Amino acid sequence: MTTPGELWLREYHDRKPDSQSVLIGAGRVAGDGRPSYGVFAERVGGERRVLDLGCGDGALLAEFVKIGTTAPAGIDLSAGELELARRRPELRTADLRQGRAQELPFGDSEFDAVVAHMTLMLMADLGAVVAEVARVLKPRGVFAAVVGGGGAIGASEVFSGLAKPMFDAVPEDRRFPDEGDHRTRTREGFDELLGPVGFEPVVWEQIVIEFDAPPEQVWARCCETLYPVHTLDDAQLARLKAEFTEATRELLTPSGILPAAVRLNLAKTRLAG
Ligand SMILES: C[S@@+](CC[C@H](N)C(=O)[O-])C[C@H]1O[C@@H](n2cnc3c(N)ncnc32)[C@H](O)[C@@H]1O
Repeated sequence: MTTPGELWLREYHDRKPDSQSVLIGAGRVAGDGRPSYGVFAERVGGERRVLDLGCGDGALLAEFVKIGTTAPAGIDLSAGELELARRRPELRTADLRQGRAQELPFGDSEFDAVVAHMTLMLMADLGAVVAEVARVLKPRGVFAAVVGGGGAIGASEVFSGLAKPMFDAVPEDRRFPDEGDHRTRTREGFDELLGPVGFEPVVWEQIVIEFDAPPEQVWARCCETLYPVHTLDDAQLARLKAEFTEATRELLTPSGILPAAVRLNLAKTRLAG
């Protein structure tokens, strides 16, 4: 059954397909210099059959194909995102389905790896999701996820601090229906979720994504990072922008760049043998 949060996300992503991949493509993993898609794909390895949960416009799957995946598959709530994924030359033969990660339309043991990039922390009924992941993975198959919730740095931290009380003040009927499971924020939470369905303890890594840029670009990126921004009205948004501009002035470098970053967590595990 589709939840209110899923309806919200589907409508948003149909209206703004590719907004996430443009945002994530603009960020650079600290100490590496590449966007997180390529770094994550490399950490998992070029497994042959890879399923991406919440695959969006296919940016991550395309990276897997570059490193050896021959049977990419993806599932997403949004038809708009999938339409863009189907246009990628790397994904010509990919199996891309519209649907919910809680009810995977794939057979048992079909995949060598299942991955999820910036999606798991949004999902309702995560118990059902991980049970489905365990079902579609082959024995010893890999499950890996990059999740948000690790905190913000520089201008991103300022933005979050200013925006939070505004989000809380949005009337209930217009609020972003956050159905995410807080267990995705910690290694212990992942193990609590994954252990009962047969996974080994996760290997946990923190990665920092830098978005340093001129203030106008950082503002736009911060707005894309947090879904509830899109529940604010024009007056609230104008006030948030004015407060953000004022509060980040002292962070500006002499060349007019605003430092901004977010901490993400990468969890990787295997089905126990
Ligand atoms: C923040 S975007 C990330 C997209 C993509 N993984 C990326 O990193 O570019 C979250 C995506 O997850 C999808 N999504 C959220 N909940 C889902 C669910 N329960 N089942 C399938 N897709 C879901 C949304 O439609 C959206 O495309």
